[in-house]
Amino acid sequence: MAKRDIVKIVTEVPGPKGRQLYTEMEQSVPRGVGHLTPVAVSHAKGATVTDVDGNTYLDFAGGIGTLNVGHCPDEVVKAIKDQADNYLHTCFHVLIYEPYIRLANKLNTITPGQFPKKTMLVNSGAEAVENAIKIAKYHTKRYGVLSFLEAFHGRTALTMTLTGQMQPYKYNFGPSIPWVYHLPYAYCYRCPCGQSYPSCELACVKYVEQVFNSVISSDAIAALIVEPVQGEGGFIVPPKEFLPELYKICKEKGIVFIDDEVQTGIARTGKMFAIEYSQIEPDMLLTAKSLGGGTVLSAVTGKAEIMDAPHAGGLGATFGGHPVSCQASLAALDLIDKNNLIARSMSIGDKMKRAFLAMQEKYPIIGDVRGLGAMVALELVKDRATKEPAPKESALIRKKCYESGLIIIGAGIHANVIRILVPLVITDEELEEGLSILEESFKSI
Ligand SMILES: Cc1ncc(COP(=O)(O)O)c(C=O)c1O
Repeated sequence: MAKRDIVKIVTEVPGPKGRQLYTEMEQSVPRGVGHLTPVAVSHAKGATVTDVDGNTYLDFAGGIGTLNVGHCPDEVVKAIKDQADNYLHTCFHVLIYEPYIRLANKLNTITPGQFPKKTMLVNSGAEAVENAIKIAKYHTKRYGVLSFLEAFHGRTALTMTLTGQMQPYKYNFGPSIPWVYHLPYAYCYRCPCGQSYPSCELACVKYVEQVFNSVISSDAIAALIVEPVQGEGGFIVPPKEFLPELYKICKEKGIVFIDDEVQTGIARTGKMFAIEYSQIEPDMLLTAKSLGGGTVLSAVTGKAEIMDAPHAGGLGATFGGHPVSCQASLAALDLIDKNNLIARSMSIGDKMKRAFLAMQEKYPIIGDVRGLGAMVALELVKDRATKEPAPKESALIRKKCYESGLIIIGAGIHANVIRILVPLVITDEELEEGLSILEESFKSI
């Protein structure tokens, strides 16, 4: 067993206080509100979490990508406290305030696109998606929406419909919202068209022509919404031509191109936004998760002419763009600059990929290693030739990890992907210790 300097497991996991909280949770919270590790937090800092029994873990899950600047950075905590001393809430629709306007300006500046932009702030990723689709429909006076297989856009009625995963998100939750059509994503490890890249000549993109010819006319489509790297779908990184080709179709057909950067954005992939790798300028870009530096916040940023389409009062939310969240976000975005977290994301990603490729040579269960910047995943298979998914083994590895002090989560339509969303403030020492725990878990199964 490698040396453990950071992780400290002093009880069985979960410990007595954690187990007690779990029992209470099972009595008071519905089971549908799933949870991924039986760890009850007491406090957290940077890339470490301490539970109610005094065990300290390394956090490779980062609140599912909400903690790119880490747990409780001093500057973000100070911004929150300072704002709480001034005013907590007015509702932006009643009294406007500076933090909202400053953050809107900042997002209009840092998102790609050499055109005038506007930003509205809401609360969750799903709410950003809902609003983007509303605005695109209003602007185009069309009502169809294109989305992708394996996509994840949220859990509200519309965003659940846009999502391209049956379990656990859609199953048994009733009829979908009409006029949403799913296209194949470029999941090259499991090509939906049964071909190989590059000889496929992007058959997945060409499939949209069949949809236009036989299902819905392109002039009835308001928007196409796409994740530049599919997150919940299993960190699926498409070939470089995929997004530009989709964008070209959108431009030809007058379809609003919506870039969902809820998971990929805010320095996660080695760029501020993953779409920057494609050098295209999305009509709308959605952020949430790490935008709030650990607080509740999401944003729709888009071309001013599109964003301004809906009438006054047609958009908004009582708590949208909460002043405490806006101040936390401004502090978090400053930290990304000050601490060069975009470059750090790249170096963390390189380190992880090198370690995972070395593990892949030793452990046949690792079928694929993929990712962009510090958004890296391992897809586990029972057999590399058949690519039969290994969901049970993936769950077992995650269990062994948290028992040894590493919090790590899964993803993927077959529940067989292990994904890493470490806080970008993680030190090299912490990263290496976490990777050694992960490797020991592979060794032990
Ligand atoms: C790409 C993407 N869009 C939308 C959402 C929904 O965000 P929220 O859970 O904040 O509603 C998520 C959440 O994981 C996501 O990854």
